[in-house]
Amino acid sequence: MSDTVKFVLDESRLPRTWYNIQADLPVPLPPVLHPGTHKPIGPEDLAPLFPEALIRQEVSLEREIEIPEPVRDIYRQWRPCPLFRARRLEAALQTPARIYYKWEGVSPAGSHKPNTAVPQAYYNREAGIRRIATETGAGQWGSSLAFAGALFGIEVTVFMVRVSYQQKPYRRALMETWGARCIPSPSEETESGRAILARRPDHPGSLGIAISEAVEVAARSPDTKYALGSVLNHVLLHQTVTGLEALEQLNMADDYPDIIIGCTGGGSNFAGIAFPFLGIQARGGARVRVLAVEPAACPSLTRGRYAYDYGDTAHLTPLVKMHTLGSTFTPPGFHAGGLRYHGMAPLVSHVQELGWIESVSLPQRECFAAGVQFARTEGILPAPEANHAIAAAVREAVRCREEGRSQAILFNLCGHGHFDMQAYMDYAAGRLVDQDYDPADLAMALAGLPSVS
Ligand SMILES: Cc1ncc(COP(=O)(O)O)c(C=O)c1O
Repeated sequence: MSDTVKFVLDESRLPRTWYNIQADLPVPLPPVLHPGTHKPIGPEDLAPLFPEALIRQEVSLEREIEIPEPVRDIYRQWRPCPLFRARRLEAALQTPARIYYKWEGVSPAGSHKPNTAVPQAYYNREAGIRRIATETGAGQWGSSLAFAGALFGIEVTVFMVRVSYQQKPYRRALMETWGARCIPSPSEETESGRAILARRPDHPGSLGIAISEAVEVAARSPDTKYALGSVLNHVLLHQTVTGLEALEQLNMADDYPDIIIGCTGGGSNFAGIAFPFLGIQARGGARVRVLAVEPAACPSLTRGRYAYDYGDTAHLTPLVKMHTLGSTFTPPGFHAGGLRYHGMAPLVSHVQELGWIESVSLPQRECFAAGVQFARTEGILPAPEANHAIAAAVREAVRCREEGRSQAILFNLCGHGHFDMQAYMDYAAGRLVDQDYDPADLAMALAGLPSVS
């Protein structure tokens, strides 16, 4: 094998299609239900929120879905992203494992999120939509949609979780530079926001509340649609460009992964790297072990219930079957803001039920330790979310050392942490603690799950 560090695909090799895992599922996804009637919804129920092209992708069973040329054109600004062989990390760990990482932090917004922000903005523009409303936690998704909106001439309104709005002024400035309007949530602009502020004027906000506000704005304005940065089938579909590129790059390396790892907030970067390989396995090809890594403080896959639940706090979204901690669950304020969501993508939940993937939850200090080791060996400073994938890769590489096995480990390095330096400063100063969730809060949130017969 060569000693290449960086596997780079030419622009001409940018994938022409996304991969849709729904084509390869032995059991179809459970239906999405109407929040009021609990009956399966049809495309018309989603029409106030999403353009038709995205609704079609949400339910499509076609294996390959064409990436429109204007989207590929913008992807070319940073894609194909490099695949690295982590030779320096391997040496530091003294592991016989071959560690590869797909580097998504080279996008303009610094993470994998533009992979779906760009097509979502494109399909909205094609449908004549003028404005998109969305939510953001740590700001990665909001800035990605702000970037995509700027390129397609669409106004973007972002409800940003209030605590992040206060803690991350530079993410907010980035969104505003791309022309978006950024509002701290809960806000006075929506009924859902006003109801929460009436009960608690200093509410720090949550992703569930910010989603309610953005959905409300989209539902009441005919020229405005809603966009979500994770969880939904079409979002996971768009992210598969990552795994498809990685497959080709591993070909260049004459290698194939034994283990694939991704961190999971709503499940999109994980699905992006893993689903193309799971598809190969489902069609009788090479087998692969796939590991989803979540924070111990918000463990939807490892501790949540597989049940129908709402995607938001005000219960405006349809009901989807997913691993959930309950829509009222409030995770403690740990630093990987992008992983603080009560639910998990229905497709990721479904493949876990099928036994196709494993999941593990990790405490934040172990994740930061791995992120710092990564920065000191590979040079890249990862997003706190990505540190979860790195920590799991380090665990696997150490296991390989102990077992004397040379396995190939592939993980998604889904973003950089340049706007997350406060978290690194807190870690360095010994101020980070391994917070656990409140079991009473979890029990109460689970008890409040909607009863669906
Ligand atoms: C850098 C980064 N990684 C991971 C996530 C988690 O989202 P997902 O599980 O959809 O990839 C986020 C979400 O905001 C993020 O910003």
